[in-house]
Amino acid sequence: MTQPKRFLSGIQPSGKLHLGNYFGAIAQHLALQHEGEAFYFIANYHALTTINDAAQLRALTREVAAAYLALGLDPQRAVLFRQSDVPELHELAWLLATVTGMGLLERAHAYKDKVARGIAPKVGLFYYPVLMAADILAYRSNVVPVGADQVQHVEMTRDMAGYFNHTYGEVFVLPEVRVSEVAGIVPGTDGQKMSKSYGNVIELFADDAALKKSVMGIVTDSAPVEAPKDPERNTIFQLYALVATPEEKAAMADAFRAGGYGYGEAKKALLAKLKTFFGPARERFAALLARPDDIEDVLRDGARRARAEALATIEAARAACGLA
Ligand code: ADP
Ligand code: TRP
Repeated sequence: MTQPKRFLSGIQPSGKLHLGNYFGAIAQHLALQHEGEAFYFIANYHALTTINDAAQLRALTREVAAAYLALGLDPQRAVLFRQSDVPELHELAWLLATVTGMGLLERAHAYKDKVARGIAPKVGLFYYPVLMAADILAYRSNVVPVGADQVQHVEMTRDMAGYFNHTYGEVFVLPEVRVSEVAGIVPGTDGQKMSKSYGNVIELFADDAALKKSVMGIVTDSAPVEAPKDPERNTIFQLYALVATPEEKAAMADAFRAGGYGYGEAKKALLAKLKTFFGPARERFAALLARPDDIEDVLRDGARRARAEALATIEAARAACGLA
């Protein structure tokens, strides 16, 4: 008999959610809740490495929860919780840290990139992958669906689990990584990868005026309306392809190739599609944020279910290394 799969992923509440987050991560998380047990958490401990404002962290945490619920997470099926509601996680992180070499962490790209950009690293930034390993191992997850940027962290988790198991006996399940292939890389309004750090995002839940402003601000070349245009090389079309039906997508591609179809018109079509695609979720999002107690109930229930799993693993790890 094959074991049911357990999926686990975390998302940092470190900014407003955008199309890149949806097509690169959230959509896959939502799809997987129908394929096995899903555990998704809001990584607020991790977010402390970039956010140091309590009110902002609380608000963003609530927004991520509301976003998942509005976009289709079913709390009866999937476990949605706040990372910090399972504080015992830190004990597991410590146990992992004591069997992990400095060299492993020194090779982390995310850490090295930040240092290369001149950010003076805090200990927490260096230790980040250890806490992430504790997240993954505590819930005995088999599959970790993440964006390509997080693959190395999951590989490091396997290494840490291996060191521990080798030292103390088989306590941890080694997880597999699953890279989101839903959309590849979603381009931002300037054509680079959409990212909050580049200021080129289209937010998922922006109001109409802000949405219009971002879409109309998409950078294009200066080809005149009459000129035939290559759809594959323009951001408007790439974004449209994510939200349109195959027929609509083909129609826009043909229009671009034929000439006589300008970028302004295409932007209007994209704006309309984004509104229909995310409109119902936007309404649910606003309604949920107006009922913070309901969001809190979901997160508390999620934490209760998640914590029971984590405590069992942590107990086994404590016993294995002679603490219990
Ligand atoms: P940001 O780049 O805006 O800081 P995060 O690093 O917080 O976004 O990303 C959260 C999740 O969303 C990750 O799994 C990441 O891979 C995914 N993601 C973010 N931006 C994109 C993008 N432009 N295309 C595809 N996936 C993305
Ligand atoms: N580091 C991840 C990110 O920035 C978030 C995260 C924290 C995570 N813990 C995790 C993802 C455990 C998967 C599993 O996107």
